[in-house]
Amino acid sequence: MSTQRRVVLTEFGPPQVMTLASDPLPAPGTGEVCLRQTAIGFNFIDIYQRRGVYPLERPTGLGFEAAGVVEAVGPGVAEFEPGDRVAYMNAGVGAYADRRNVPAAKLVRIPESVTDEAAAALLFKGMTAQYLLRKTHAVQPGDLLLVHSAAGGVGQILTRWATALGARVVGTTGSPGKRDAGLAAGCAAVIDLNDPDWPKAFLEATGGAKARVVYDAVGKDTLLKSLDCAAPFGLVVSYGAASGPSPAIDPELLNKKGCLFLTRPSVFPHNADPATFRANAADLFDAIGRGHVAVEIGARFSLDQVVQAHEAAEARAVTGAIVLVP
Ligand SMILES: NC(=O)c1ccc[n+]([C@@H]2O[C@H](COP(=O)([O-])OP(=O)(O)OC[C@H]3O[C@@H](n4cnc5c(N)ncnc54)[C@H](OP(=O)(O)O)[C@@H]3O)[C@@H](O)[C@H]2O)c1
Repeated sequence: MSTQRRVVLTEFGPPQVMTLASDPLPAPGTGEVCLRQTAIGFNFIDIYQRRGVYPLERPTGLGFEAAGVVEAVGPGVAEFEPGDRVAYMNAGVGAYADRRNVPAAKLVRIPESVTDEAAAALLFKGMTAQYLLRKTHAVQPGDLLLVHSAAGGVGQILTRWATALGARVVGTTGSPGKRDAGLAAGCAAVIDLNDPDWPKAFLEATGGAKARVVYDAVGKDTLLKSLDCAAPFGLVVSYGAASGPSPAIDPELLNKKGCLFLTRPSVFPHNADPATFRANAADLFDAIGRGHVAVEIGARFSLDQVVQAHEAAEARAVTGAIVLVP
């Protein structure tokens, strides 16, 4: 029996509620593989779960995404063998660990050209960008898009990929220091959200044109104003709430703002079964291979530094993706 070092949560709260534990790890069960994890992806959803915004039964692990090497396979697993490099983004919470048993159906092989670290930083966020620009709205050449937090993890990937598809992206960031990262990701212009009249700045940047789609994962601080940036019959995608829960919106307001469409999607139902998950992952890896998707790893923390990792994310101090290295 091997051991597992992992982050444990016994109560909800600030980053300090996360503690480390070492436990024996049983051999992988039927349909499972044992993974030695080499890189763990931090995602903003981990903060919502740690705070109890999306409550979990406790005690619990934390984290959705990691990459690593198969150490052992359980009964009934034919598609993977020890030594394979794999990643996952939805095998139940508990990715913040150095070793873990994971259902084989939740795994995808990492192409040779992609490092473990890049896979851990890219899969959850890249699959989010994948459904946002393929399914929520099939991005077309010439589409004008407004992408909030364009220098963040999902934001950079979404911006780069949408730009490669021919869209014109205007981004926002929460601090001027992130502007260059937004531009490097492909934004035609980057708006500072500290400007209280940032919708006016957006319209100035576009010559008065409004967005076909607004991608808003900031929530409380931005969603109502985002409605002012969408073109008539445009789509407002509320896919997160980094600043706090989004306000309730009266459907009549959507009429007044231009017969808008409003949706609140999630990456999980878009990848609910193994075949769809792997097809979407193949699309993502293809985009990576074409250079349409890349990841900037903004900060690395060891598993022991998980508290600092969450503090940095909450302080909006990191540009790009955060990776935990066990
Ligand atoms: N629905 C889905 O399927 C799905 C899937 C994955 C992620 N998401 C959402 O996408 C967003 C980005 O996720 P991520 O993991 O890539 O994180 P991230 O972008 O690295 O971090 C969140 C970003 O939100 C912005 N922000 C605005 N107000 C904030 C506040 N009060 N506190 C902290 N950050 C704030 C910050 O950018 P600025 O400082 O530039 O404003 C920060 O960089 C999150 O809201 C997440 O919940 C949704």
